[in-house]
Amino acid sequence: MGNGKVRTRTVAWMMLACGLTGLARADDDDRRRPDRPQIHSARNDSGVAVTISTNGFIDRRNPFFRELGANGRACVSCHQPQEGWSITPKGLRDRFDQTKGTDPVFRLNDGANSPLADVSTRRAREEAYSMLLDKGLIRVGIAIPASAEFELAKADDPYGFASAAELSLFRRPLPTTNLRFLSTVMWDGRETFRDPASTDCLFGTTTCFASLHFNLADQSNSATVGHAQATVPLTADQRAAIVDFELGLFTAQQQDNGAGRLAAHGGNGGPAFLSSVVSYFGINDTLVGDYRSHASFSPDVMMLYQGWQSYLEDARHADPERRDRGVAVARRAIARGQALFNGKPIVIRDVKGLNDDLNVPAILGTCTTCHNTPNAGNHSVPMPLDIGLADASRRTPDQPLYTLRNKSTGATVQTTDPGRALITGRWQDIGRFKGPILRALAPRAPYFHNGSAKDLNEVVRFYNDRFGIGFTEQERDDLVAFLKAL
Ligand code: HEC
Ligand code: HEC
Repeated sequence: MGNGKVRTRTVAWMMLACGLTGLARADDDDRRRPDRPQIHSARNDSGVAVTISTNGFIDRRNPFFRELGANGRACVSCHQPQEGWSITPKGLRDRFDQTKGTDPVFRLNDGANSPLADVSTRRAREEAYSMLLDKGLIRVGIAIPASAEFELAKADDPYGFASAAELSLFRRPLPTTNLRFLSTVMWDGRETFRDPASTDCLFGTTTCFASLHFNLADQSNSATVGHAQATVPLTADQRAAIVDFELGLFTAQQQDNGAGRLAAHGGNGGPAFLSSVVSYFGINDTLVGDYRSHASFSPDVMMLYQGWQSYLEDARHADPERRDRGVAVARRAIARGQALFNGKPIVIRDVKGLNDDLNVPAILGTCTTCHNTPNAGNHSVPMPLDIGLADASRRTPDQPLYTLRNKSTGATVQTTDPGRALITGRWQDIGRFKGPILRALAPRAPYFHNGSAKDLNEVVRFYNDRFGIGFTEQERDDLVAFLKAL
């Protein structure tokens, strides 16, 4: 896809609104209709992220933006376009201050640390919604299935609510954009359904999954009756409208404070290129390769910035930014970061869902062993993994800690979130979560299901410590520069 070549007319109001030149490009037919913006762009700490829609415009009248339940909430309450279609502590703080903590995102059922919390005064609300305000975490309530291989031996919940009937699991809202790449819906895959008639099956097995469309339609309804406390389910039309809206959205960082435009001079950042990336179930499976073409697995998952590897300061001819040495330096750093993401060797140990399932103590891999969907970075088939984030050893005082007992062996394990195990009931699934899509990261810190990494530096530090990677200072900086440019 020729970036912007066919769409060169610039939307003047967009540029005025954002103070950005050469960034906003779109057809301008609808520019006087504020409900029909061609693109959405918003600043973040490292630059500007942009959302486009393959439906032609971002339809603000879609039910996604409408109050659907009984508590004032819409999908957009927790999936804010300017916060990477998730929510951030800063955005939540602004909403809290503007409304004294009464904005619909602040609701007892799942916005508060406990549904029984006192929210009668502003001070009380400040405390009741501390997990939401501090880390952008929603309280997902899930019971231990009766048929589970384990039972709850102890719930140490600082907010005094959790029990076997409803564990409190504090999780980050996943973005509702770039969903076309998704293989697994929700952190624990609970909205990814089996379908024996489907052709999307794990290689060589009869474990087959329903279409993304089906899964997302079900998810939209669960979110409405759950988060928005609706008493009537969404109609089929409403579900379809929401899913079509979501599947049309593509979001990526478009402008970087250091590197300038990310879709320029051989760089393929930004949402326009992303929307042209082909993807399907099992496109680049780490073990099997490409399910359809039978090509072998490629660790070169992110292929956006290899053109900047030898980016020269004196690439004078075509480069309007030639006077800015800083741009060249920043572009080379991003290219080096991409090479590290694809290629830096990591000895992967003690990952449930990988080492135990394959019965190998260590795998020599890279970031892309797990983040393998081309240019999207999620796992290209459902494969929840336990990389240790919910381990008792990483528990912080604001998190609940659950002691689970194996019903047949009597063994116990402590975790802040059993993850996949609450869906399957299986002991071996405790602490397993999906590998999420790694685009448009910059606008939506903090990271990981529990928001435990405050920024991308902390993400890289986690991996460095967890797997003893031994990144140099320079490598860390490069990798972070690259992650910010996704
Ligand atoms: C109260 C906040 C809240 C509201 C309101 C909300 N969501 Fe979410 N959403 C979340 C959280 C939290 C998660 C992750 C939960 C998990 O995985 O356990 C999530 C996950 C998702 C996902 C999964 C994305 C992925 O990568 O797997 C989709 C899709 C989604 N929401 C769509 C919607 C839609 C559509 C609506 C409106 C009908 C909606 N959400 C309303 C908080 C919310
Ligand atoms: C063993 C598999 C594995 C490897 C190797 C791995 N990841 Fe991950 N990654 C995951 C899983 C699983 C998650 C989700 C974990 C969670 O939140 O519970 C994740 C989450 C992330 C997130 C957070 C995304 C978000 O939306 O919060 C980032 C960023 C990330 N990984 C980057 C990297 C980088 C960079 C590397 C290489 C240094 C890497 N990962 C290596 C499996 C892996």
